[in-house]
Order: sequence, then structure tokens, then C-alpha cells
Amino acid sequence: MTSVDAKSALQIGKKAVQRCITTGCEASFGLAERIYVCPRCSGPLEIEFDLENAESIGDPKSLRTRWHDRLLSTDSRDKSGVWRFRELLPFDDDAPIVTLFEGNTPLYDAPRSAEFAGLTALRLKHQGCNPTASFKDTGMTTAVTQAALLGAKTVVCASTGNTAASLAAYSARAGLQCAILLPFGQVSAAKLAQSMDYGAAICEIDGNFDDCMRMIQELSNEPSIYVANSINPFRIEGQKTVAFEILEQNDWRVPEHIVVPGGNLGNSSALGKGFGEMLRLGLIDRLPKISVVQAEGAAPLAHLFRKWQQHEKSSDVPDVIEFVEHPNTLATAIKIGSPVSWKKAIRAVIQSHGQVISITEQELADAKAVIGRDGIGCEPASAATLAGIRKLVAAGKTQKNESVVAVLTGHVLKDPDYVSHYHRGTLAIESHVPGKPAARHSIKGNFGNAPVRVAANKHAILENLEKRH
Ligand code: F0G
Repeated sequence: MTSVDAKSALQIGKKAVQRCITTGCEASFGLAERIYVCPRCSGPLEIEFDLENAESIGDPKSLRTRWHDRLLSTDSRDKSGVWRFRELLPFDDDAPIVTLFEGNTPLYDAPRSAEFAGLTALRLKHQGCNPTASFKDTGMTTAVTQAALLGAKTVVCASTGNTAASLAAYSARAGLQCAILLPFGQVSAAKLAQSMDYGAAICEIDGNFDDCMRMIQELSNEPSIYVANSINPFRIEGQKTVAFEILEQNDWRVPEHIVVPGGNLGNSSALGKGFGEMLRLGLIDRLPKISVVQAEGAAPLAHLFRKWQQHEKSSDVPDVIEFVEHPNTLATAIKIGSPVSWKKAIRAVIQSHGQVISITEQELADAKAVIGRDGIGCEPASAATLAGIRKLVAAGKTQKNESVVAVLTGHVLKDPDYVSHYHRGTLAIESHVPGKPAARHSIKGNFGNAPVRVAANKHAILENLEKRH
């Protein structure tokens, strides 16, 4: 324990419960209960802290200094950008943690992306700079720590690729068996390769992600199994720390707007929880707007939000959603029709006065290439953010001078096939809806940058460069 930590003997974890978020139920359960939904009403669970009565924190404002000081510490918990914030994690101070030193990711200025979106400035929080190259690591460190504490034998998840790669790595670190369910033929080769390398048992399921998720729900009753999808509230606890990091990196000024891609909707839920806790502790005095962007072929939350805006005109959070039966997008990470965390996500959006919108495949592909031109790069799903911001600015829903942070969720090397096809002008999306003829739609390489074959002589190379000018 560093001297910094000696001051912060952690009691907050002991005061936390797992709470059902369904209005009227709100049942609470102990942290050691191996449950993923409310046993009473099947509603979503979240970890609830008694923040207002957490004497161990002392003056909440001192947390900022403590968290910042830990950046210089050599304690392995302090080297993690998740466990550095452990006063707000539901674990005892001496819990043995499973970490790969996740978090502490960069917040970049992105001038070309800003110009493309019609903003004066834009910052990109690159969660692809995590150990397995996606934001999932920040949640997996807490979920796998909890799995080990509960004595689980096997950890499982359904995944479009990133959750699987992350779980495979963290369970290898913990010495736990890992089983992952992936939709056959719908996961990028790079993500699949990661899971193979980390030693997971990989089950390629005949079906889509939503079918895999259904299988997980059936498996979750097995006593030896621990589910690490974002339905698990301990995952969200790790993921919420990205909100703390964004604030810290912005000198605790609240950005006006945070934009994330939406798939299974754990990430948007986690951001809502993170900023909400900062507000309750008085570390910030308002919430940023949290907006979610989905691909138009897999946009159940965007449909729900549109309906809510048109008809409800109330601050009540909707409690029914229509799922998308045949989700389709080339951004395979977010090819999800039945997101498990939609209730938490819509609540986070409505409470913060954000938006949920969808964007086309072409808009997403071009935005991805523009992020690349900022020297940053990301995987396709992450670029939904920039495409969405551009659309919000064009519609007058986001102002030119707003301070906006887009969360990039995965690294550019996660899906090299997509990148290559876009730049060569061969990217296309196929749709296979049962009962309808298969259709193929080409995506233009508007910002394409295909390699050219050049003779092995200096003049040919210089001539080629001249032409590009
Ligand atoms: N971006 C990337 C790169 C993702 O991998 C995911 C989700 C999302 C965005 C959406 O985040 O689900 O929290 O709304 N990937 C999951 C997976 C589903 O299995 O890897 P979300």
C-alpha cells in the first residue's frame, strides 16, 4: 500500500449493493450474490453506493488530488486507469485484482475530424489504446476480478469480437477457463486471432450476436459459470471510470457533449453512471449531454428515441423497445438488434438531455477515414461517433463551438479488411433478410487511399508523389 492509500482505507465497497433499476421494484442484493438480473422482476441491476454517507472518502474534492497523485505511484493498482479510482469500485481495498494496466488512455485533439464535423474543435478519447485494443478492458478487469473472488471456474461471454478478446486475455491472467460464443462468420479475423492466442474455448455459433446472447442467458444458471457480458453490473463499474478520466484530462471542466457508438449499450450506460456519481459527489456541477450513435441497420435505440421524442413529450424513460430482428452493418462490433442494456442507456441519454441517432454505412465509412487522417485511426464502430456528430451539427442540434468528446472504442487494426476494402473502393454491404432477395450495396471510397504499384526507380516514385499533390 502506498502512503496515499493508507489514508483511504476503503469502506465504500462494503456499503454498496446490487440494486434493481426498475421503478417500483428497486430490490437490493449483496455484492457476493452471483446474479445478473433482478431475481424478483428480471430487471437490470446496477451497483449502488451510499455516496452521500461515505465517511471514508472524506472531502470528495480530495479525491481529485489522490487520483492524480497515483499516476506517479508504482503500486500495480495505481498503474491501472481503472483501479486508480478504487474508492468508487465495489471491492475491498485488499481484494486481489486482475489487471493488465488498462485505462489511462489518451484524449487527442482532432482538427481534421472537427472540420469534417463542422465544429471548431473536437477531442477523441481513444479507448482503443487499451491492452487488448478496445474499451472492453476497463470493464473486464473488474468483472474477472469479481469472477475470481466468487470462485467461478469458467467465465463466458457472447461477443461480436472485442468482449471476447478482452475476456480471453483477462481470464488467462487470472488462470480461469474462458468460453466465448461468437456469431459464425461475423467477427473480424483480427479479433478472432486475439481470442485464439489468449487460449479461450471459442464456440462459433450458427446465428447472430443476439442468438449468442440468448445462449449466454441460458448458461448463466450453471453454478460453475460466470457471465462477463455488460449485463453484469461489475463490468459497468470498471467502464464508468472513463468518465472520471475524461474529466481529469479536461482539468475537471465538464465537456458539453460526450458521444459514443451504441451496440449492446453497456458503454453509454457506464458513462451515464460515471458522470452521475461525479455529480452526486459534487466533483462536477452538471452532466454533459451523452449521445449515442447507431448504424442504421442496427438501431433499435435510435428508433425508440425518435418515437419517444415524437409521442411521449415527457421526462419518463420508456419501458418498452422494439428489437431489430435482422441487424446489419459492416461495423460488426455494433451489429446488435436486441441490446441488453437499453434501459440504462436510454435513461442516461434522457437524464443528460442527449440524443440517439443513426447514421448510414457511407457516412460511417467516410468518418472512419477522416479520423485516420488525423493520425489516430479507429475501428469502424468507433467512427459512428464522428459521423453522428456531423449529422447533429448539420441539423443544428449541436453548436459549432460546443466542447465535444467522441469516445473511440476500438483500434484501427481491429478490422484491417474493412480498411483495405474502403481505400481500394471495394467495400460493400450485403443484406440477407429471409423472404427478400439478397441485395448488395457498394460503399464509395470518398477519402480512399489505395496503394499504387510503382516501378523500382527514383523518377517513377517522384512522379507518383507529384501526381498526388
Ligand atoms: N465499439 C466497439 C469497438 C465495440 O466492440 C462495441 C461492442 C461497441 C462499440 C458498442 O458498445 O455494446 O457497450 O454499446 N462490442 C461488443 C463485443 C458487443 O462483443 O465486443 P456497447
